[in-house]
Order: sequence, then C-alpha cells, then structure tokens
Amino acid sequence: MHTLVLATTNAGKVRELASLLAGIPGVHVVMPKDLLGYSPDVVEDGETFEANAALKAKAVAALTHCLTLADDSGLEVDALFGAPGVRSARFAHERATDSENNAALLAKLGAMTAPDRDEALTARFRCAIAIVDPFGGGEVHTVDGDCEGEMVPHPRGASGFGYDPLFQVAGTGQTFAELNDAEKHAISHRGKAMAKARLVLEKLLLAREERLRKLEVHE
Ligand code: IMP
Repeated sequence: MHTLVLATTNAGKVRELASLLAGIPGVHVVMPKDLLGYSPDVVEDGETFEANAALKAKAVAALTHCLTLADDSGLEVDALFGAPGVRSARFAHERATDSENNAALLAKLGAMTAPDRDEALTARFRCAIAIVDPFGGGEVHTVDGDCEGEMVPHPRGASGFGYDPLFQVAGTGQTFAELNDAEKHAISHRGKAMAKARLVLEKLLLAREERLRKLEVHE
C-alpha cells in the first residue's frame, strides 16, 4: 500500500476527495494530522487555483515525505469579475464559515437580481489538483476541472458544502446541493479534475513500484 496524504482541512473537500480516491487500488489515504500530529497551516497567497494547490502539495509533501495531493478550488461569478475566486474560502472574512460566505455572496448578488434584471448570473466552479511525490523527485503535477452554471437568488438543497446551495449546474435545473454525491461527482469541477489526477497517480505509483523493485534487486 502507498500512503497518500490529502493536504486539506476542509471537511467537505476531504469527504469528496476520499470518495473519489476510494477506487484507486494500492492507495491508503491519510490526513497530515495522522502523520504529524497537527494540521499544518499553509499560506495560500498564490493568484491562481493551480498556484495555491501546488503551494499546499509541496509544503505538506516536504513535511510528511509522502505522496501528497492538494485541491484548491472555488467559485467564479462573472458579474463579480471572477470573485470570490481564489478567496472563496475567505470571502466574508479570514476565518469565515460556509454560511457566512454564502450570506456575503447573496448580499453582493442581491443588487444584481433585481426584478428588472432577467439575465442569468453565470458562474463556474474551478478545481486545481496538485500531486507531489517526494520519492519521485518532488515534481509538481497539476490538473484541473471546471463546471459551468449560474447563481440562484435563494439557497436550494441540503447536500454538499460551501456554495453548493447557491450554484445551479448548467443544463440540470438543480443546484449542487440538490444532487447526491455520485451525481455531483459525475459533473463537478472536482470530479473532472480527479479523473485526470487518477491517471497521474497511476503513473506515479507504477514509477514508485519500479524504483522499489530496482532497490530490492540491488540489496
Ligand atoms: P480552498 O480550501 O482554499 O480551496 O477553498 C475552497 C472554497 O471554495 C471552499 O471553502 C468553498 O467555499 C468553495 N468550494 C470549492 N469547491 C466547492 C464545491 O464543490 N462546492 C461548494 N463550494 C466549493
């Protein structure tokens, strides 16, 4: 079994990533806290999801010396010029809860959903996943995925996390929070990025096994 560390503290993301990784044979998923006894706080000061995912994966791989996967994701609303974007987790304030962020976003969008305004408030979720294998040279492998949709004026649905109740997926008439896990994974930014990440992981695991075999031969 190869240990894979998930470099995130967001409970909603952990749940989704763990379920998306469940089918990969030979991988044992752990949290940084399981190995280090604490959750490292990585400063996410990158300007893109890719940059922040790479920052998290590199920092946690350096601390744990294990294969590490990090997800950086967020919501981009066109009428807000891409906000909340990379600040999605901290839109209301630095330590905001999901409900505080949703309330702050609804307040901003309120002015734009006046009865005389009938165009959709188009938006998309984006997800970047970075994978680092310290045993394989420490290179950062990044993949991404996105999901188009529009903002709704009132929260709908009880599943998921974050902005899920406010985001209606294009072509479905349903918010993410009205879908079950399998339905969300099939179309979500994270599901799409994880499908690509899976291929990267499979290659890295094969390369690891090859290196281990060579080490055994030389022993
Ligand atoms: P990060 O942990 O810095 O990547 O922040 C991600 C933030 O984006 C979360 O706190 C959520 O607010 C939002 N987010 C990312 N993915 C999703 C999703 O699938 N559903 C709802 N909100 C999401």
